[in-house]
Amino acid sequence: MAPEGTSAQDVNQKLVDQYTEIAKLAGGLAHEIKNPLSTIRLNMELLAEDFAEGETLRERRALAKVQVVQRECRRLQELLDNFLSFAKVRKLNQIPSNLNLQVKQVVDFFRPKAAETGIEIVDYLAADLPTVLLDREAFHGALLNLVLNAEQAMPKGGQLVVRTSTVGDGVALDLIDTGCGMSAETRAHIFDAFFSTKGSGSGLGLPTARKIIEAHGGSISLQSEVGRGTQFTIKLPLPPRLADQTVREE
Ligand SMILES: Nc1ncnc2c1ncn2[C@@H]1O[C@H](COP(=O)(O)OP(=O)(O)OP(=O)(O)O)[C@@H](O)[C@H]1O
Ligand SMILES: [Mg+2]
Repeated sequence: MAPEGTSAQDVNQKLVDQYTEIAKLAGGLAHEIKNPLSTIRLNMELLAEDFAEGETLRERRALAKVQVVQRECRRLQELLDNFLSFAKVRKLNQIPSNLNLQVKQVVDFFRPKAAETGIEIVDYLAADLPTVLLDREAFHGALLNLVLNAEQAMPKGGQLVVRTSTVGDGVALDLIDTGCGMSAETRAHIFDAFFSTKGSGSGLGLPTARKIIEAHGGSISLQSEVGRGTQFTIKLPLPPRLADQTVREE
């Protein structure tokens, strides 16, 4: 209950302000950690070089320990980078874009890796898809995480279908994989920050992707079944004044 004289809206605004403040502090803290971390990484690299040609057992053991520290530093660095892109409070720079083209860029980037893992990519990109407003860099990051998640769900290969279509007053993008799928328990938590079922995952990929998609006025939903695969669907609204135009990008 809101205290007397305070409206629910005031309380809500106060919570938003507090959240923004905490997000800023956490972002600042992550930045502060990155500097000493680079010094540690640099010194570990120098140490590893010193021990690289180690002849004694002691030197070889020391090198192995240095390599463990290096690996953990890389993980920390990745975690901080992911956290920073999750916590970043920035205004989107949305410009008229062709969703098919943005999808193609991500898929083309992923194609060589997919071929190596035995993943077949099938794309059905709707012709004459209406133009949407996208912050291309942010949207690229969100899509890339979805595609990488699909790849990680199919370590022995499989199929990834990428489909775009016009729906109601917007456009939709489906990403359908034939990977391991998710249990109901996993499905309930995938958008929670730091939730991951992977040993080396930060668990920030999907929360960040959802934040970006929702900032575009869109939505992300999923269907998944253990052992069969997963379908993610992203819906994006059409900007009213652009509803009749189609932007062609080279
Ligand atoms: N396509 C998928 N198939 C099966 N499980 C998935 C899929 N996408 C996401 N998940 C589940 O959702 C969890 C959260 O995904 P998210 O992208 O947020 O983090 P992550 O991939 O574990 O780590 P990071 O993205 O930081 O590397 C994953 O750990 C996995 O359990
Ligand atoms: Mg991920």
